[in-house]
This record gives sequence, C-alpha cells and structure tokens, in this order.
Amino acid sequence: MNKFTFSYPTKVYFGKGIAQEALKQELVKMGGNVMLAYGGGSVKKSGVYDELKSLLLQNDKQVVDFSGIMPNPTFAKVQEGVALAREHQVDFILAVGGGSVIDCCKVVSAQAVMEEDIWSMEYEKGKFPAAGIPMGAVVTASGTGAEMNSGAVITNEEKMWKGPIVGTGATFAILDPDYTATVPPMQVLSGAFDTLSHAMETYLGSSDQDNVSDDVALAIMRNTVVNMRRLLQDINDMQARGNLMWDSAMAENGILKVGRLTDFQAHQIEHQLGAYTDCNHGQGLAVIHPVYYRHILKDAQEKFTRFAKEVFGEDSAEAGLDALTSFIRECGLPAKLWELKARVEITPDLLRKVADTCNIIKSNPRELSRDEIYDILCECM
Ligand code: NZQ
Ligand code: ZN
Repeated sequence: MNKFTFSYPTKVYFGKGIAQEALKQELVKMGGNVMLAYGGGSVKKSGVYDELKSLLLQNDKQVVDFSGIMPNPTFAKVQEGVALAREHQVDFILAVGGGSVIDCCKVVSAQAVMEEDIWSMEYEKGKFPAAGIPMGAVVTASGTGAEMNSGAVITNEEKMWKGPIVGTGATFAILDPDYTATVPPMQVLSGAFDTLSHAMETYLGSSDQDNVSDDVALAIMRNTVVNMRRLLQDINDMQARGNLMWDSAMAENGILKVGRLTDFQAHQIEHQLGAYTDCNHGQGLAVIHPVYYRHILKDAQEKFTRFAKEVFGEDSAEAGLDALTSFIRECGLPAKLWELKARVEITPDLLRKVADTCNIIKSNPRELSRDEIYDILCECM
C-alpha cells in the first residue's frame, strides 16, 4: 500500500423512508435559509420535492428553489446558482437529484463564499477551495457516487471542456432506494454501468500485489454486475436498486482508492466526448470501455485475467473482455458511438478534437498517445 490519509466527512442515511429520520437530525444543524436544488422536474413528478419541501417549511426554514439543473451541468448554471445563493443569503444547500444536481451544488457552494473565479483558481493556480456553504445530498438517481466526495464534473461551454472541479462535499447523504423508483430503466442501467466503470478504472491503476483495495474493488464490480442482472429480470427489484445504490457510493467515496494509483483514462475520454456531444455519461463509458481495454490488454494482462475470473467467471483476460462486451449488450446499453444520443453528429473531425483535448493519464496501465485515443474513438464508431 502507498502512504495515505483517509477521513470520512459525509454521514450516510440509507434505507426506505430514511429521509424523515435523517432530516429530523440534520435540520436542527442547518441555518434558516435553505436552497432546495433539483433538476428538470423528476422530483416534482415523483413527490420527493413536496415531501422535502414540506419538511423544510414545517421546520421554519425559508426555502429558495434552484431548479433546472441539467444532466452534464454547465459552469453557466453554476453561476446562476451562485447568484441565487448570494441574493437569498443561503446558509444551507439541499441538493436533490443525481450526480448532475449534486455536482452543480458542490461548486455553487464553494464559489458563493469567495470572490475569485473558482475555475481559474483551480485550473490556472492549482488552488482549491477551503470553505463553502454547507450542503446535504438526497440521491434520486444513483451511479456516480457524487454524494460522498467533493469532486464535481462540470462542462465549461466557453472552453469546450468537461472536467473535474473541486467543490464542497455533502455533510450528509440520504440514500433511499425508493427515491430511485421512477428513474427510467435506461438511466438506471447507465448509472449502474458508471459505478462498474469507477471500480474498474480504480482497479486498473497501479497497485501492489494482494492489496485490500483491489479485493474491495473486485467485490464491488461483481456485486454491481449481479444486481444489474437482477434488474434485467425485474427493473423494480428494490433490493437490487438498494445494493446498486450502495455500490455506487462505495465506488466513489475514496475507499477503493486508498494506497494506490487509479487509471480513469476511459472517464477522461468520455468527459471530453460529453463536452462536444452532451452524451449520457454511463452510456458513453459503456461504448469506450471494451475498446480501450483491448488496447491496453497486454499492459495489464494479470489484472485483466483476475477481473475475468472474479467478475465474469471467465478463464482468460480476453474472455473477460468478451464477457464485458456481451454484458453491455445484454443490458441494452450502447456499444457504438452512433447509438448515443448526441447533440451534434459524431464525425471523425469531432473525434479528433476529443482526442486532442482530453486529459491523458500518465501512469496507468500505460500512457496513451493522442493518436491512439483517436484510434480508440474511431473503433468505437
Ligand atoms: O433532471 P431531472 O428531471 O431530475 O431528470 C434526471 C436526468 O434527466 C433523471 N432523474 C434523476 N432522478 C430521477 C430521474 N428521473 C426520474 N426519477 C428520478 N428519481 O435522470 C437523468 C440523469 O440525471 P443525472 O444527474 O445527469 O445522472 P447521473 O447521476 O448519471 O449524473 C451524471 C453526471 O455526474 C457526473 C457525470 O459526468 C455527469 O455530469 N459524474 C460525477 C462524478 C462525481 N461527482 O463523483 C463521477 C462520475 O464519474 C461522473 O463523471
Ligand atoms: Zn463516472
């Protein structure tokens, strides 16, 4: 194991009907002006918005809505939230949604308490925020694990860049599998594939032999596949949704990453593809993963063999990747770029731009060249 420090700032409340209990404990710690943040309206249809808003009002909170946070949230949307937070002197943010809502709020929280532009501060000066408006996360769509970390992924449309930005982590997270009951099946599976991807990308990074992080990552992968298959039998299997919800948090709360390096090259490619096309994150990953892994198979043969055995019960690295490819199809997830819902037509020219601008992970398992990334993307076509 490499040297590490690990702390755990998010209190998790998990289970059916847990919101009432959780908020009873958390509301007393919040200030009086609460921003209730959400996406395009699913929380209103599902009744989650009404349930939470009435709890806030019953506890004498002044509530300001921050609505319309889109999938793949933009930096412009962050600015809108910041203006609202300042205008209403918000002292607590309750983010209710999937990764997009939670991520947007993380950055709103940090930016609202400082004058300096957070984007330039982080990308140009390499400095990170030290404070923010406290926030909590209520997860209505699982997969990203955004509720248990302080990293956000934001699209800066002016810079044509979708990338990480450090914001504020939630002090508590409410994970009620029932809140995900209304998520469309394809989003449920895309989210779960994102979880699988987080564990795979972490596992594929450099680690010493027989370290515990690899073992935990493999267990998360196996459990994610098992429960995705349960959902293919019955999309309303709430026990499977609950398992996937916790897999999601586990894959991105830092536990898998301690004492080792991570890869995340597939994520870097997908994020930039997202900047150009606004495609769905989990679906973009489903297309990229098998092709990328075939390119680096020889560089991490042993790891791929273990992945094959422990996640898909296959004997060889190659058979493991075949099983991953079949599994993506079995789930009905896109396997080619043309199957993605994209804002613009995906052309070779666009793929060249993605390859030329995406982050390159230098260490694990092997540093790719930009031409190689372009080749991978072309194969994804
Ligand atoms: O906007 P609404 O109407 O709420 O609809 C959303 C959205 O259209 C819908 N949805 C959410 N809860 C629902 C629901 N529909 C019905 N019933 C419910 N209960 O789901 C759609 C997708 O939501 P979104 O939040 O965009 O999905 P996801 O959770 O997959 O988040 C994706 C974003 O997170 C980033 C991605 O890049 C992407 O921007 N990521 C964040 C990470 C992090 N912070 O740790 C890590 C990931 O690797 C990822 O990059
Ligand atoms: Zn992801």
